[in-house]
Amino acid sequence: MWSSVELRESFLSFFRSKEHLVLPSYSLIPLNDPTLLIIGAGMAPLKPYFKGDEKPPSPRIATCQKCVRADDIEHVGRTIRHHTFFEMLGNFSFGDYFKEGAITWAWEYLTEVMKLDKERLWITIHTDDDEAHKIWNEKVGIPAEKIVRLSDNFWGPVGPTGPCGPDSELCYDLGEELGCGKPDCKPGCDCDRFLEIWNLVFTGLNKNEKGGFEPLPKKCIDTGLGFERLLMVMQNKPTPYHTDLFEPFMRRLEELSGRKHEKEDETAFRVIADHVRAVVFMLADGITPSNEGRGYVLRRILRRAVRFGKGLGLQADSFKNLVDPVIQVMGNIYTELKEKRDYIKKIISAEETGFERTLDQGTEILEGIISSVKKSGDKVIKGEDVFKLYDTYGFPMELTRELAEEKGNIVDVEGFNKCLDEQKNRSGRQPLKIEAVHNARYAKTLETGFTLNSTYSGTPFGDWVSNFEFTGYKKIKEKTKIIALIKEGSFLQESSVVDEIEIILEKTPFYAESGGQMGDTGALKARGLLIKVLNTKKGHSDIHIHHCKVEKGRVEPGMEITAEVDRERRFEIMRHHTATHILQTALRNILGSHVAQSGSLVAPDRLRFDFSHFQAMTQNEIDKVEALVNAKIQESIPVKTFELKQDEAIKKGAIAFFGDKYGEVVRMVEVKGFSKELCGGTHVKNTGAIGSFKIVGESAIGTGLRRIEAVTGMSAIRTFREYESALKTASSTLKTAFSGVPSAIEKLKEESRTLEKKLSEKEKDLTGI
Ligand code: SER
Repeated sequence: MWSSVELRESFLSFFRSKEHLVLPSYSLIPLNDPTLLIIGAGMAPLKPYFKGDEKPPSPRIATCQKCVRADDIEHVGRTIRHHTFFEMLGNFSFGDYFKEGAITWAWEYLTEVMKLDKERLWITIHTDDDEAHKIWNEKVGIPAEKIVRLSDNFWGPVGPTGPCGPDSELCYDLGEELGCGKPDCKPGCDCDRFLEIWNLVFTGLNKNEKGGFEPLPKKCIDTGLGFERLLMVMQNKPTPYHTDLFEPFMRRLEELSGRKHEKEDETAFRVIADHVRAVVFMLADGITPSNEGRGYVLRRILRRAVRFGKGLGLQADSFKNLVDPVIQVMGNIYTELKEKRDYIKKIISAEETGFERTLDQGTEILEGIISSVKKSGDKVIKGEDVFKLYDTYGFPMELTRELAEEKGNIVDVEGFNKCLDEQKNRSGRQPLKIEAVHNARYAKTLETGFTLNSTYSGTPFGDWVSNFEFTGYKKIKEKTKIIALIKEGSFLQESSVVDEIEIILEKTPFYAESGGQMGDTGALKARGLLIKVLNTKKGHSDIHIHHCKVEKGRVEPGMEITAEVDRERRFEIMRHHTATHILQTALRNILGSHVAQSGSLVAPDRLRFDFSHFQAMTQNEIDKVEALVNAKIQESIPVKTFELKQDEAIKKGAIAFFGDKYGEVVRMVEVKGFSKELCGGTHVKNTGAIGSFKIVGESAIGTGLRRIEAVTGMSAIRTFREYESALKTASSTLKTAFSGVPSAIEKLKEESRTLEKKLSEKEKDLTGI
């Protein structure tokens, strides 16, 4: 059976073999596109390439893109087709291949790689698209009666303007039992029988600001294959929520709620599973809950989940416990989730607790409104009432609407929007209401990622972020200034010897845990002051947070100090990091180009590298990889870093870690003539500094995923010493030379087998059995 990891990779490999450049998923936050709130389709981040505003790094691109769509949130959980968060697999052509290429490759992938039953596949096309009809019918051989012409087969644009065009969908017949039973039921019918799995858009038009359509400079292709849907079909499950993508999550939710993912609780399980995934991904990409824009989308999704959680009887502050199962499944692919794990939990917990305080009260009030509306023989809930629930109890309008519709009522959306506009107009002139002050403080809490107590009166957080600088690529010691001290969620004005505090510095040479590389440790020093840095992590807006213990003296914001990274430890980390890059290329050279990193850990004493590969490595392969890495170490190759545009780096053949986020300007680390990787980590200057490399483990961590554990430098020497000492003990016990140990053990085992046999024969004689 295809696992989710294998399926994602098989799609990208297929299009790699068709000469597509495989790019990592873009962030959920659109880059330089004010017309879009959030990325909701695989093509959305690529808009400038379609329009010809920018030159794509390759005329053929393939991605697996993180997407969020919240416009039909009330359907999520109630159908198997709607998700707020989903992954979209897509192949794109920018003035390269067109309809025939898109159609024949989609068919080849589904029928030859996925081996789907051709009989179950149906096609839809736009009513007037005779060209697509001809390709499907004559080239691919689909009978005309299975090619359905539909007038609404036209896709796009995302946002008010942009690329769009007629499309053709591949639909999978889930079986008559799911259908409406009508004799002419086919794709386009409202029932659940035909599931659209892949949309091929023949992107030839651009919708302009005036609402008109103009031809694009070149004809393009944009396809979107629903990952969760295909996975459900390939794993032969009744819903995407039963696939391995959701399995650990559902089990955890069952434990927490004491209920089962079935029958009347099915909807709530789906809603919570879908929404928590969305929230985790949005937070990891830097979106924070608020009452506007993206932050509001996040808040609305989380609050709907909390409402359904109540229905399942979840205890207060439960949702933070649902973060780990999402990261368990997705964290190796989207490593930003692992890096922000603690931050994500903190925000979810604060947001959930804030909403829970008013949820019961608000629900009670809404029920009162509904029953009085019913009594008066009406159905409509007034806009003002909906607004009051929103303003005072934090009920997103969509939540009120959903609750009301469950009871057969209608909400006056227009009236609600009018109240909202009025409030916006007023807010400039009026003093803030008590709740608003509370919310402002609360919003700040969420923005910084710390839970601040009520004495907090505001910080110039934005200024800190813009002045902040990481100097640790070049230095491990830096004169700098203390900006803020934080203890259990509160900003402190000063601190002396206490257990642990978090410190923000203006500049820092301390590397913060990311890209698998562990955070730096060390010390902050000034006259009479010694602070130990126990770890460094990224906080909101990627500012570095030093987790510290004050050993001696007093510290306060504004103090000048010297920040000093633990040199030995950092150098051990750098050895392991550069070795990881060499290892990745060595694996690709020896096992094949399908090897792709899915996660890594770079520590001072070891490295761990997870990658896609479908069987266990043989001892011979392990030996070869180890030898190749050591050869590259002995060649003493210079390691250089460059800052360049992402597309240039990709053109130069740099490996981009699938799932990583890269800005427009990226950092490329090159082991000359051997490896190029996009990487923000710290590295040795010359491979010779790594010293030596030893693989200490090779194992499976999931279907199609392997893990290598290895050591370098002094850790490798320590490992050899451990092996040596074990061997020494064995050889002296056995009274033989090192080389004689294996045969001596073999001999002992043989003797022991003979003795056991004799003994059991004797026992038989004695007992007569
Ligand atoms: N843009 C199309 C969609 O989102 C195909 O990728 O369905």
